[in-house]
Amino acid sequence: MSTWVVITAAGSGTRLGANAPKALVEVSGRTLLGLALERTLDLADLSGVVVTCPAGSEDMFANVVDKELPRMGVPRQVGLHFVAGGASRQASVKAGLDKVVSEGGEPADVVLIHDAARALAPTDLMDRLVEAVVEGALAVIPGLAVTDTIKQVAVDEHGVETVVATPDRRFLRVAQTPQAFLLGPLWDAHAAAADRGSTEETAATDDASLFEGVAVIPGSPLAFKVTTPEDLTNLTTALAQVSDPA
Ligand code: C5P
Repeated sequence: MSTWVVITAAGSGTRLGANAPKALVEVSGRTLLGLALERTLDLADLSGVVVTCPAGSEDMFANVVDKELPRMGVPRQVGLHFVAGGASRQASVKAGLDKVVSEGGEPADVVLIHDAARALAPTDLMDRLVEAVVEGALAVIPGLAVTDTIKQVAVDEHGVETVVATPDRRFLRVAQTPQAFLLGPLWDAHAAAADRGSTEETAATDDASLFEGVAVIPGSPLAFKVTTPEDLTNLTTALAQVSDPA
């Protein structure tokens, strides 16, 4: 059984205030995509990696990664493929999965779907996810317990919010990536839900939403998603710590 990884990197940098695609934003001279890729390329039994890029930026992304590879400290032992993403993250993942299948991915292979924006998700988390699929799960995600009380709200036509529910936080988890699947069932789920992916409003925001019976394993604080400028500051601090734990 071999492993494929799709790294979603087709998002804009708008909420970060960046005028480059978010995945190419740099911290300490390293791009978010390069950091995510470095941890991915360290995986055992890797068959290939597909990166989804903003349409038309595929060659530019490939060039940026080529330049950064010597700084990754991992050999490029597998094919790296750059494909155009879609109108939503869900559509981008579908494009990535199509490429995996066209490169020889088999239904019984393991596929990890990972956000470049979760640049420091560690390889050992990826190993644990792959292992869970090898042991028989169809779909496995990393989840972190919630410490805040979460409210569900209704929003009226003036934007005024009212609390409508307070879910029991003992049973809430923050869903992270990578998320791990058997390639065949994931491809089928994406094919069946492809219509939803055509707009951000209707699209699934993660791949596990397209599945029933998803297993959850403990996530990693390092797998946080970079969305805002504050997240980027936190990433800089966390990167310094993982690079020099002393
Ligand atoms: O926008 P958000 O931060 O939720 O995006 C999560 C991940 O999905 C990011 O890595 C982003 O680059 C990717 N994405 C994508 N295609 C889109 C939108 C987002 O690959 N159309």
